[in-house]
Amino acid sequence: MTKLWGGRFTKPTNKLVEEYTSSISFDQKLALQDIKGSIAHVEMLGSCNILEMDEVWKIKEGLLSIEEKVKKEEVTFSVEHEDIHMNIEKLLIEEIGPVGGKLHTGRSRNDQVATDMHLYLREKTEGLIELVEAVQSSLVEQAEQHMETILPGYTHLQRAQPVSFGHHLMAYFWMFERDKERLQDSMKRINWSPLGAAALAGTPYPIDRKATSDALGFDQPYPNSLDAVSDRDFILEFLSISSIMITHISRLSEELILWGSQEFQFVELDDAFCTGSSIMPQKKNPDVPELLRGKTGRIYGHLMGLLTLLKGLPLAYNKDMQEDKEGMFDTVETLEGALSLLAPMLASMQVKGDQMKNAVKEDYSNATDIADYLAVKGMPFREAHEVIGKIVLYSIQQEKYLLDLSLEEYQQFSTLFESDIFEKLQPDQVVAARNSEGGTGFKQVENQIQLAKEHLS
Ligand code: ARG
Repeated sequence: MTKLWGGRFTKPTNKLVEEYTSSISFDQKLALQDIKGSIAHVEMLGSCNILEMDEVWKIKEGLLSIEEKVKKEEVTFSVEHEDIHMNIEKLLIEEIGPVGGKLHTGRSRNDQVATDMHLYLREKTEGLIELVEAVQSSLVEQAEQHMETILPGYTHLQRAQPVSFGHHLMAYFWMFERDKERLQDSMKRINWSPLGAAALAGTPYPIDRKATSDALGFDQPYPNSLDAVSDRDFILEFLSISSIMITHISRLSEELILWGSQEFQFVELDDAFCTGSSIMPQKKNPDVPELLRGKTGRIYGHLMGLLTLLKGLPLAYNKDMQEDKEGMFDTVETLEGALSLLAPMLASMQVKGDQMKNAVKEDYSNATDIADYLAVKGMPFREAHEVIGKIVLYSIQQEKYLLDLSLEEYQQFSTLFESDIFEKLQPDQVVAARNSEGGTGFKQVENQIQLAKEHLS
């Protein structure tokens, strides 16, 4: 088959080279973006009098017909034409004849491929923002139902202080809120148009870059043609944001796995989101959160891959950059899958409030509150801390919890204790008391959920 660039060559390309250098197996995902970019380009060539209007119509019609066929999956792409850009150009020439060869006037595959990826990532980022919001909605829904459900809060994975389960879930809401903001902010940089930078230096044709930028819905053309074709920061940024987001997903998944274990029994994932074992009939495994946690590795990998690819790459385009795509596609698809599963899995999760409450009753996580009790009565907090440490040690030795001690036992450690101590040590009192801004006190959690809803609407 003759190459679109065959003029300078005397020999056909080695078959292995053709296969090795071709990107069509993966960049065909950019077919629709490529056609969209071409239509904007050819219309601009017409309005700038670089092509005749009848030529523009023919090319545009040809492109629209190819677009139809792509949507119906009626086209076959070939490795001989290397990538999506040349495959579509070849199809165009087959469709409308030699005039199709005029499409590539005043542009290069270098600005073309960059434009395609900007368009692709913009569309995908918009979709991901919606998927993040669906996860946030599930979190808010569960948090609202479990504002007053109490479970142990942990530090060092040791029981620390009781908290509202709603409060715990809302912590993830804010992580996803920041992820969403980062995605939204990245749009500013995704929305620059490389089109018209041509191969690297611009073009002698009197093109109108603002026209193509506007037609494609970008905010502005890149001000520098070398930067326009060399820049992959917008993909790096997407992979960075994705790495942070999958970290959040992984931490949440880890908690769901722990909470679902026999040892915790705080939540139970719906049957529809679990799988069984081929040998152990009793098993109900949290495969989904495990896989979500496991997916983290590949997204970090794609970020490292692209950072390494770009490091030390001279300006402007280098073929190395063809390697920028698969990691980006895979990250998009991995996140779409993860977020789509996470939202309904969280919404359908059964929360075992009684188990959580029992756990709180069987620990010493109200110890800080006794220290605070003495401190309020005038004892310096450091001294109170020491006294309560002794009370905890005494209770452990007596195999009792803090609510099981009698007033007389308390008074052996300090005469400041009065009978109201028992009220103060009740788990819901302990949680409600933490009413400082952003704390786990029920009022605070309610305010927080209100604020979250404002962010969602
Ligand atoms: N398939 C190429 C890529 O993805 C398109 C740009 C090719 N440009 C070139 N001068 N070889 O990077």
